[in-house]
Amino acid sequence: MLITCWYLYLAARIIAKQSLNMASILQKLITPLFSGPPELPRNKVTVVGVGQVGMACAISILLRELADELALVDVMEDKLKGELMDLQHGSLFLKTPKIVADKDYSVTANSRIVVVTAGVRQQEGESRLNLVQRNVNIFKHIVPQIVRYSPNCTIIVVSNPVDVLTYVTWKLSGLPKHRVIGSGTNLDSARFRFLMADKLGIHASSFNGWILGEHGDTSVPVWSGTNVAGVNLQMLNPDIGTDCDEENWMETHKMVVDSAYEVIKLKGYTNWAIGLSVADLLESLIRNMNRIHPVSTMVKGMYGISEEVYLSLPCVLNSGGVASVVNMTLTDDEVAQLQASANTLWDIQKDLQDV
Ligand SMILES: NC(=O)c1ccc[n+]([C@@H]2O[C@H](COP(=O)([O-])OP(=O)(O)OC[C@H]3O[C@@H](n4cnc5c(N)ncnc54)[C@H](O)[C@@H]3O)[C@@H](O)[C@H]2O)c1
Repeated sequence: MLITCWYLYLAARIIAKQSLNMASILQKLITPLFSGPPELPRNKVTVVGVGQVGMACAISILLRELADELALVDVMEDKLKGELMDLQHGSLFLKTPKIVADKDYSVTANSRIVVVTAGVRQQEGESRLNLVQRNVNIFKHIVPQIVRYSPNCTIIVVSNPVDVLTYVTWKLSGLPKHRVIGSGTNLDSARFRFLMADKLGIHASSFNGWILGEHGDTSVPVWSGTNVAGVNLQMLNPDIGTDCDEENWMETHKMVVDSAYEVIKLKGYTNWAIGLSVADLLESLIRNMNRIHPVSTMVKGMYGISEEVYLSLPCVLNSGGVASVVNMTLTDDEVAQLQASANTLWDIQKDLQDV
């Protein structure tokens, strides 16, 4: 007993001496010029959900140097801690000085932008509507916590079905509609631009084309607006995008719709392209750029849509969120397709419970 006490006493003395040495090194090295509360972050970004998509968003945001603080939240504590440590160990190569993580949302306080990627995946035989309701139940926990700690944030929803969950987030958050954005067809349009440009032998950024409407099966390719260097492709081939087109350009849109299924079949999930595209949206918001992106916004009253649905239109993004929506000159057929997209979404939304 006496020996144990003696060892404990010695151990306590060693620890005390070590912390004294630490303190004295700090005191010798640093001379504080002022003391006061630490400054709040100006461009704090939170990513909710550290799965494949969440981490692709996180690394893209870090590499583009968009945030002065990054917060991560998830319900899986070990995975969250592991991802936090792994990113922190890369601090030497990053320009984001603070990376934090916790399952408690207080860690997200004062976020300027919150990206929501949390959610469950469809199970075999599970209906889409059932998946929606399961993700709605998750969002009922997440969204109030986000706005509690960051009442002035802009939320970008990525979880699927993204348009419906963006509507749900808008309802649950109480935020104005211009500060709740769905990643929408930003990714579909990027895929379209890559595939079309690839066929034409040019870079994706040099092919101009938009996919609007629902992120998913009923998305709308705006063939009437496709152009390269201002040369309208419909002027060169009036049948482009139709069944009568001998060159079958329509196939490219089909590839866009199928691409997520194909990538998931090959590697189990999609993550890199969505991560890169979300970081691109963040850049427009954080740097107040007024760039135009196809993202999911509340479209009631536009193009004859009478219900409160979120779907993608070309939106001007700046530090306030969605500043405005571009009125595209669509053909009657394209407008009809947009309306069909809206009806599909409303059919799902109207049966949601407790939103
Ligand atoms: N919008 C798009 O273009 C697009 C593209 C790809 C994937 N997605 C969607 O993104 C979502 C995430 O996909 P993933 O591959 O990263 O899935 P994943 O299963 O790898 O990750 C989901 C994460 O969410 C977390 N989570 C679950 N419930 C939570 C809660 N209540 N609070 C916090 N975190 C919670 C899980 O623990 C997990 O870490 C899916 O809905 C997927 O369909 C959207």
